[in-house]
Amino acid sequence: MSAAHDDFEDVKILDNFYQTSSFFPMPVVLVGTLAESGQTNLGPYSLCFPHVVSGQHAMMLIARGTSNTAANLRRTGVASLNFIPDDRAFLENCVILGFPGETTEEKMKNSVFTVLPSRREAPGAGPFPNIVAEAVQVFECTWDRSHPHETHGLEHHYLLRIERIVMHAKWRKALLEGGEFPRLPIDYGYRDSMHFWFTKGRKPWPVDLPRGHGVDAGTVMYQANRIDPEVTWQPEACAELAGVPRVFLKTVLTGCVDRAKAAGVKVITPEFLHQLRDKRAADRAAPLSLLAKLKQVFAKHDAPGTP
Ligand SMILES: Cc1cc2nc3c(=O)[nH]c(=O)nc-3n(C[C@H](O)[C@H](O)[C@H](O)COP(=O)(O)O)c2cc1C
Repeated sequence: MSAAHDDFEDVKILDNFYQTSSFFPMPVVLVGTLAESGQTNLGPYSLCFPHVVSGQHAMMLIARGTSNTAANLRRTGVASLNFIPDDRAFLENCVILGFPGETTEEKMKNSVFTVLPSRREAPGAGPFPNIVAEAVQVFECTWDRSHPHETHGLEHHYLLRIERIVMHAKWRKALLEGGEFPRLPIDYGYRDSMHFWFTKGRKPWPVDLPRGHGVDAGTVMYQANRIDPEVTWQPEACAELAGVPRVFLKTVLTGCVDRAKAAGVKVITPEFLHQLRDKRAADRAAPLSLLAKLKQVFAKHDAPGTP
């Protein structure tokens, strides 16, 4: 079918339009929360997305207010978001765990998942829900109670602050060094009277980013925290470097990290970048942009790196 093919027809927009009136790709997240008994309740949720583009680390979970998950969140404020791999048996079990109306004790008898203790370290806080051993990665979260959760309908919106992300060693290595990425399932949105539909998480394939433009803060963050495991970058520091031409990014970041290590600094903050800038600016009469100054500071790394 050519891109210009024009036989679009209207589709009636029904309730739950993402399931009834469209094909809508979504994640499959097993949300772990604490039941009153202390047992971890696992409920499958697809309306679970990053809530901000950059800066804050938060997820939005949309759940019926009467679900076990919602009740547990309101009572305890803590959740584990378990991203299960693309495996038919796991997805079949998710659909079983997604049948509304059962108590935690009843439904968890049917769970095929193995649970492990939370990896959160919060002295004096807790308890926290268990995490799912089979998950590719887990976001351990705390509900931000300052964000309104009640809506006019049956659903609630829970803003979950990400406190910790844990990932199996193999996938963490792939995240840092590249290689084979995990296969994650996609809830296809569409649902008929008989089935949930999922589609295979196929082998991920790359598409080049446009060349020649300055990089955004997210790209800076991605690169920055891969330069050296002993030096981390605050998001605000990465934001300061947004706009750096792609060909200079690695050079600038490596220069900052080298200087941080030389100074015994483990976390690069905007203040640290300003110190680097000011050190150089002290010798200069005219004020320069941070980028120009950093480029001068790191002139010795003047061979453009491959981002
Ligand atoms: C793949 C899948 C995705 C689902 N996504 C959602 C969702 O995003 N929001 C929601 O309220 N219910 C969703 N459900 C239905 C809930 O899983 C269902 O209400 C279940 O009873 C929740 O479990 P809980 O009561 O233990 O929280 C989904 C079900 C499945 C199988």
